[in-house]
Amino acid sequence: MRKENFEKFMTDKQVVAVACNQWGDTGKGKLVDLLSNWADIIIRGTGGANAGHTIVVDGIQNIFHLIPSGILHDQDNKINVLGRGVAFDPRVVIEELDILAGANINIKNLKISHQAPLMLPYHLLIDRVSDKKQKIGTTGRGIGPLYTDFTARHSLFVNDIFNKEVFRDKLIKFLEIKKSTLNKIDVAQAKEILNHPHLENGIYFDEENILNIDAIVDKYTGEYADRLRDYIIDLENFVTKAKQEKKNILLEGAQGLLLSIDYGTTKFQTSSDCAIAGLAKGCGLRDDQVDYVFGITKAFYMTRVGNGPFPTELGGKQSEEYCDSNHTKDEEAKQYAGQLDKLLVAEDGFERGVGIRLLGGEYGATTGRTRRTGWLDLVALKYAMQFNGPNLTLTKVDVLSRLAKIKLAVKYKYTGPEIFYAGQKLSPGDEIDFFPRFSEILYDCQPIYQEFDGWKSDISQLEDYDQLPEQVKKIINFIEDYTSGKIDVVSVGPDRGQTISKL
Ligand code: GDP
Ligand code: IMO
Ligand code: MG
Repeated sequence: MRKENFEKFMTDKQVVAVACNQWGDTGKGKLVDLLSNWADIIIRGTGGANAGHTIVVDGIQNIFHLIPSGILHDQDNKINVLGRGVAFDPRVVIEELDILAGANINIKNLKISHQAPLMLPYHLLIDRVSDKKQKIGTTGRGIGPLYTDFTARHSLFVNDIFNKEVFRDKLIKFLEIKKSTLNKIDVAQAKEILNHPHLENGIYFDEENILNIDAIVDKYTGEYADRLRDYIIDLENFVTKAKQEKKNILLEGAQGLLLSIDYGTTKFQTSSDCAIAGLAKGCGLRDDQVDYVFGITKAFYMTRVGNGPFPTELGGKQSEEYCDSNHTKDEEAKQYAGQLDKLLVAEDGFERGVGIRLLGGEYGATTGRTRRTGWLDLVALKYAMQFNGPNLTLTKVDVLSRLAKIKLAVKYKYTGPEIFYAGQKLSPGDEIDFFPRFSEILYDCQPIYQEFDGWKSDISQLEDYDQLPEQVKKIINFIEDYTSGKIDVVSVGPDRGQTISKL
C-alpha cells in the first residue's frame, strides 16, 4: 500500500461509499473494514440479511449479514449504523450482536434508523414459497416480500415495535391482506421448503407462529424492543449533525449493481437499489453528498450466485444448473482433490469454472452455495459504471495468478431471435457493445474476448503498485482505457494488509 498517498487522498473527503459493480460478493466487506480506520461513522443503507460480508483479520474470518462491516474497529469513537434503506430483521441483528458481545467486541456504538422497514416471519415464508415458482434463487431471507410490502404500503417499521398498540393494529390490517396468500400454503410444504439445504443455515422463520398475531406482537414489542431500544435514532438528524461536525462517513453497499432493482438483470435481481443512488438514500443522504465512490470490481473474473444471465460464465447453462442444485464446498473439495492444475487448463469450460471457484474460494457467505464463475465482462462493467461512477477498486487480483491466459469480454454477439431493443432491431449475428439488462436478451449474448498473457507468479505479498508484474499492469491499463475509468486500489488477498494503492 502506498500508505501516504492513500491517506493524503482521503484527507479532503468527508463522505465516501463502497458500492459493487457486479453481482455482489466482490470484497466490499474487506474494503469497508479497511476504510473504517478513516471513518468515524459507518452506515449500511441497502439490502438485508441476504448480504454476506467477509472480513479477515489476522487470518480469522468474520461474516456479517446485517451489522456494518466497520464493527470490528471497536474504538469508542466509531459508530456503526443500520440505515433507513435496510430490510431490518431484528432476529438477525440480535443474533449478530450476541456473537459480537461473546467475542468481546464493543457493540454499544451501534445505531438503528427508526424508519427501516421491518422483517416479519411471513416475509421469509413467502420468499421461500414464491421462489419455488420464480426460480430466481433468492437467499430466502424475506427480502423481496418485505420491499414489496414497503412499496405497496403494507410495511411495518422499526419504530412500530416500541408502540405495542400501533404495532398490533398495523399487523392485524396487513395480515388480513396477506392471509389470502398465506392460507394457501400448508405447513407440510413450508417445512419441506425450510429444509432446503441452502436455506437452513442461519436464519429460520417461526413457522408455528407465522400467522399468530399475539405471538408476533409479544416477540417484537417485547423481547426485540427491549433488546434494541437503546440503539434507535432518527438517521436524517444524525447524519446532518455528523456532517456539520465534519465527521468522516463511510457508506457500506450491499449486493451489486447488476442485482439492483433499478439497473439489474430483470427478474434475477434483489429488491433494493444497490447503486450509489439507492445506497446514499438508504443511508439518509443524497447521492450528490457523496464525495467519492469505491466501485468494487472483482478481477479478472467475476461470479454470480443464484440464477440469471451471465454471458461470460465458464460452462454456461451447465454451470448455472449445477450451481442451482445444492453442491457444497466440502463436496467439491473432495471430488476435485489434487486436480486443480488439470481443471485450470481443461478444454471444457465447466471444469475451468470449477477450477476458478476452487482458486477463489467462491462459495456463498450467506447460503453456502457454489458461486458461478466466468471471465471479467467489461461490457457489463462499463454499464455499471454509468451508475456507480468512474472509480474502480479491483479485488481478488491474486486469484488467477496460476493461469497462462486471461480473457476479458469486450463485446457481445447477439444470437437470439430478431427483437426490438431501445429503438433498434437486434438480429442474430449482430455484434453489440452495450449491456441489455433484459434477461431474455442477455441470455442470448455470447461474449467476444480479448486475450492477455497471465503472469504466473504469486502477487499476494506485494505492497507497491510498481512491483506488480507488467502483464497485470497491462490488463489494468486496458480496463482503464476501455471504461474511461480510474483504478484506485488493487486488492491481492483477503487480509487488511494485502491491499495495494494505485493512487
Ligand atoms: P462482499 O459480499 O462483497 O463483502 O464479499 P464476500 O465476503 O461475499 O466475498 C468476498 C470473498 O473474497 C471473501 O471471502 C473475502 O475474504 C475474499 N477476498 C476479499 N478480497 C480479496 C482479495 O483481494 N483476494 C482474495 N484472494 N480474497 C479476497
Ligand atoms: P453481498 O452483499 C450475491 C442474489 C441472490 C439471488 C438474488 C435475489 O454479499 O454481495 P434476494 O434474497 O436478495 O431476494 O435474492 O440476489 N443476492 C446476492 N448475491 N451477494 C449478495 O450480497 C446477494 N444478495 C442477494 O443470490 O440471485
Ligand atoms: Mg457477499
